[in-house]
Amino acid sequence: MNDSSIQSNFPTLNKRKSIEEFVYFDNACTTLRPKSVINAMNKYYEEYSVCGERSLHKLGKMVSDKVHETRSLVARLIDARKEEIVFTRNTTESINFVAYSIDWKKGDVVLTSDKEHNSNLLPWIRLSAKLGTVHAVVKSDSNGSIDLLYLKELLEKYNGKVKLVAVTLSSNLDGITNPVLEIARLGHRYGALILVDAAQGLPHQSVSVKKFDVDFLAFSGHKMLGPSGTGVLYGKKKLLEEFEPFMIGGGTVVKSTYNSYCLENIPERFEAGLQDYAGIIGLGEAVKFIQKVGYKEIARRDLELNKYITDYLCSIERVHIIGANEPEKRGGIISFYVDGADSHMIALMLDEANIMVRSGQLCVHSWFSDKDIQGAIRVSAYFYNTLEEAEYFTKTLSNILKAV
Ligand code: ALA
Repeated sequence: MNDSSIQSNFPTLNKRKSIEEFVYFDNACTTLRPKSVINAMNKYYEEYSVCGERSLHKLGKMVSDKVHETRSLVARLIDARKEEIVFTRNTTESINFVAYSIDWKKGDVVLTSDKEHNSNLLPWIRLSAKLGTVHAVVKSDSNGSIDLLYLKELLEKYNGKVKLVAVTLSSNLDGITNPVLEIARLGHRYGALILVDAAQGLPHQSVSVKKFDVDFLAFSGHKMLGPSGTGVLYGKKKLLEEFEPFMIGGGTVVKSTYNSYCLENIPERFEAGLQDYAGIIGLGEAVKFIQKVGYKEIARRDLELNKYITDYLCSIERVHIIGANEPEKRGGIISFYVDGADSHMIALMLDEANIMVRSGQLCVHSWFSDKDIQGAIRVSAYFYNTLEEAEYFTKTLSNILKAV
């Protein structure tokens, strides 16, 4: 697909007459949504806006069938079994789900990397305060990804006590991808479970939970063309079957008496109450769209844009790229800071020229505090961005940097 045929699928992009009206480079926060996702959600509300998995009537069956279809599409996307896919509201809920569900003992250890989003950090800090578990941080190496030797050292130090290694697939801070296959092999050798936060990674690269052999994988719809408020937790069947659902109620049981209940099978036992059917249906369409474009094409376009912007930024002495200078290591993300200039101020000046980026500490406050850096400007591209937009960004930034 060429630029204009890709862009024509996105109503937000179709509205503009020229790129000077609107350049969206905040895709790591949330992507734009294609018409097919919006249409599928509207169709649900206009034509069959009823409850799924309960009533036997025709409209109810249509909803149930669509929910099953999305579960199958998501399962195929990540090479999982259908019953291993639990619908949640977002990555944050998926990670908290695991934090609540594991049977923790005082002294159990959770290892994370030093670049985790707050969603894959705060639950482990709170767990330590509440239950006496230990949270330890594995530093990144000079390539910006998790230091496997350091990881091994910590696994040895806490021998037998590390219950979970929880790491991001690709960092929302700098786009660097962790070697999840090696992390899982190493962690499993020491008896740890592996949780991967794929919120930033899955929109840009293919994931096979079987090949990676991860125990849990969490991701959100809104970062991969899908609706806000939709997320997924993948869990290995035998692990999910051991979990006590942290919410129970309608839809989670096959039977109850006044003083007992019998849980549904997985995954339905984890999806309490009426679900966001429109959202789940929209998520299915988002998966179809990503597959239509293809990960190969997504990676090609990420690299093309990242390289163009990186080449420009590397030519400016005051600018420091976070993670690694090589664009091929950073997917669609280019985060940087400028000596002597506030990141929010630059983002607001870019916004004046209708270029939307994110600034500040990007929900990874821990990393910025550790490095004593005020904040970053993050340009995050997706496959519908173009070289023309990247050029407009570099020209605008160049003018801003003359003024600050
Ligand atoms: N996690 C999202 C981001 O990085 C919100 O912007």
